[in-house]
Amino acid sequence: MHEFNQSLKYDKRMYAADVKGSIAFSKALLKAGILTEHEQAEITRGLKEVEQEWANGTFAIQADDEDIHTANERRLSEIVGKDIGGKLHTGRSRNDQVATDMRIWLLDETAKVEGYLKDFLTVLVSRAEKEVDAILPGYTHLQRAQPVRWSHVLLSHASAFLNDLTRLREMVPRISVLPLGSAALAGNPYGLDRELLRQELGFQSIGENSMHAVSDRDFIIEWLQWASLLMIHMSRLAEDLIIYSSAEFGFVQLADAYSTGSSIMPQKKNPDSLELLRGKSGRIFGQMAGFMMSVKGIPSTYNKDLQEDKEPLFDGVDSISASLRIAEGVIATLNINADKMAAALSMDLLATDIADYLVRKGVPFRETHHISGRSVALAEQRKVQISDLTLEDWKALSPHFTEDVFDVFNFENSVEKRNAIGGPARKMIQRQVDVARERIAGK
Ligand code: ARG
Repeated sequence: MHEFNQSLKYDKRMYAADVKGSIAFSKALLKAGILTEHEQAEITRGLKEVEQEWANGTFAIQADDEDIHTANERRLSEIVGKDIGGKLHTGRSRNDQVATDMRIWLLDETAKVEGYLKDFLTVLVSRAEKEVDAILPGYTHLQRAQPVRWSHVLLSHASAFLNDLTRLREMVPRISVLPLGSAALAGNPYGLDRELLRQELGFQSIGENSMHAVSDRDFIIEWLQWASLLMIHMSRLAEDLIIYSSAEFGFVQLADAYSTGSSIMPQKKNPDSLELLRGKSGRIFGQMAGFMMSVKGIPSTYNKDLQEDKEPLFDGVDSISASLRIAEGVIATLNINADKMAAALSMDLLATDIADYLVRKGVPFRETHHISGRSVALAEQRKVQISDLTLEDWKALSPHFTEDVFDVFNFENSVEKRNAIGGPARKMIQRQVDVARERIAGK
């Protein structure tokens, strides 16, 4: 049972959060007259020593240490003596303690994850700005659709991750709610100054209901849901790049550092980094769903089921952190093959541009679509590209065609015409880059 019950093996990573929470708590106890100045100073000294031991790897775990909270308190009492150490837990329960520690820990990790996400986005956006010349087929249904800039593809993914960045920032006020002072469930009878605790620990607000404060793990579920959505985006980016890196496409080539060879096929270069990013998404969804199942049927306030919050969250945070850093490296070192991209462009991708041409000559769009379709069919029948049709052919399709129809057959012109906000024209790529940079900076 001890083995089954104990969480120290994984919750020890919250040692610094636990020490921070306890030092703040000792200040509230001092203010309430439970601790003397001397006792509070001793507790602070002892806790700092405990923290140092964890940091140095010299903390000696004892057989009955159940979790980080009991282990730290046990060691504190060894350092400062039971008479002083034994006072620290006055008006506190592990229920408000663990909820507080988790929030302190997660706020810290969220700031790091925000940094990784910003770095990754910065790389995506910088590449997009630099590689604006490359044009490739854009796809819908994975069928060749219309020409777009490579930058536009990169920025389409950046747009999704920018929304994830916004959502991450919006979560912070909901994580930053202080449980400490709620004790087991019914609050503390010592008039502890929770405003002082809030300030000491840098929380944005104070949990207003002690029963809810010890019960609430919404912030963990929400974080894992956030992570799941981010990994949906990551998985789709990975899938695009895996397809583009196949020999049949050849648009991109992964750096050696982010791929592996095959044990038996020497010609192979496998996109393992991308496949792992895609694969890890499943793992995150599982952590989210698993913990939601753990929470859904439990009665109010604290039940030990809630200890099951740790491994999913820790694994989720670790997986997200690693995934963002790997994704940054993959994008930073990716080689693109602009010639292959250009070679994949065929004139039928400009069929819509033919329709647009006729629209400008006053033909209703529905009709232009039909005429353009017939030009594609005619070229197919002759086994040529639509740009090989003669002026006579065009005139036979519609009297509105004149010599300038041949200007349509230029991929650069095609993307440059799409110059409304959100389009792939150079100016709009730069606009996307500028907007993205502002959002990364949090403006
Ligand atoms: N290790 C426990 C957890 O993570 C701490 C809270 C235990 N509280 C209790 N009353 N048993 O949830």
